[in-house]
Amino acid sequence: MENNRGSWSSRFGFLMAAVGSAVGLGNLWKFPYLAGENGGGAFVLVYIGLVVLLGFTLMLAEMTIGRHANSDAYGSYNKIKKGWGFVGGIGILSGFLILSYYSVVGGWVMKYIVASFTGTGTDKAAFFGNFISSPVEPLVYHLIFMGLTAIIVIRGISGGIEKASKFLMPALFALLLVTVIRSVTLDGAMEGIKYFVTPNFSEITLKVVIAALGQVFFSLSLGMGIMVTYGSYLRKDEDMEKDAFIIPSLDSLVAILAGFAILPAVFALGFKPGEGPGLMFITLPAVFENMPLGSIFGALFFVLVFFAALSSSISLMEVTVAFGIDKLKWSRKTSVIIFTTLMFIIGIGASLSMGEWSDFLIPWIDGKSYGIFDFLDVLTSYYLLPLGGLLGALFIGFVWGVPNAVKEIKIGSKFVTEKLWSILIKFVVPILVFLILLSTTGLLDKLLGL
Ligand code: TRP
Repeated sequence: MENNRGSWSSRFGFLMAAVGSAVGLGNLWKFPYLAGENGGGAFVLVYIGLVVLLGFTLMLAEMTIGRHANSDAYGSYNKIKKGWGFVGGIGILSGFLILSYYSVVGGWVMKYIVASFTGTGTDKAAFFGNFISSPVEPLVYHLIFMGLTAIIVIRGISGGIEKASKFLMPALFALLLVTVIRSVTLDGAMEGIKYFVTPNFSEITLKVVIAALGQVFFSLSLGMGIMVTYGSYLRKDEDMEKDAFIIPSLDSLVAILAGFAILPAVFALGFKPGEGPGLMFITLPAVFENMPLGSIFGALFFVLVFFAALSSSISLMEVTVAFGIDKLKWSRKTSVIIFTTLMFIIGIGASLSMGEWSDFLIPWIDGKSYGIFDFLDVLTSYYLLPLGGLLGALFIGFVWGVPNAVKEIKIGSKFVTEKLWSILIKFVVPILVFLILLSTTGLLDKLLGL
């Protein structure tokens, strides 16, 4: 039975798939606009701090659970301790909801590949706004993106996922570097560089911390069991300690490079950093217009963003699909078709909420109301993923037991950071995530206000 689950054909293949999952729209699209909305350097500093404290720790934790139990996210938790499958269940739900709107943004990227040739006009913000708010075109791209994800996932673990990631990730990295060079050498770029690298400590507010925490989970693909699922395809002699160091490091590097590609250009070309989700789409076409052979380069760049998004969406879908296969006993194909259809339908709502349905708002426990797109983002990044991470840490610390996890890690690794990791996973991660989660709901304010 276990042999049917497939496994990685090589260590490099696994690493590239894991990096492929982590590096995606979160790094290239989300990180720069969140930094732009949350004080630049202040956000970057908090983000890096949280990656160091939580990112490495939880990455190793999830891989360990998966490799030990050798099952999907739900089954792994349940196998180690009956009744704990719900932790994986929360993750599966998060992945399902994230992909519904992730695919919409993936579609935007495809549109921008085309637009690199057809042009984006002089008013970049208007071009972006008109496109995402139109009722039909974004849905067509959403459908194509979702369909491509489904096709790759149907082909199974090393057949599709691994092969695709292996050469796309290095290519993306190279092109990103070239874009950074163009952006930081524009006239007036210095102001943007300063904005991005100098933390203004008075700007580190609770809002910034909450945004950074959500981004750590989102960008590293944590809190939803993807690393549990990928870990379950790992061989016993894999050095997971090393992997859990490499993956978050590379992911953060790409996010920072994306910041350098976008924010200096924002200042140099007269855009505003607080532009929100449109920041990458509005700024980069203008950067490419300032380059020789810009339209070809721009197209190539968006092609690679598209592949980065695809290798992430594959991982998002794999979690849900593995659940269908392992738990519901569906074939891979059935599982993919059913879940793809459901996610596509929810994504229609997310896309339309940018235009026709923008008046439809969902009231939420923090006292605010959100459109469908924002609601899916807020619910997953700021609530479900941190909750999944919190429960995962508690699971290791107090249910499975740190010594048992350590034993599993040590099968393939020297585990030099054993002591540090043990303290982080048992105490620091749960307390920190719990406090931030509590303040996200607005409850902490109320408690302190009393
Ligand atoms: N990390 C990916 C990105 O940055 C998105 C992603 C893929 C993800 N798998 C995930 C986010 C699992 C959370 C959980 O674009």
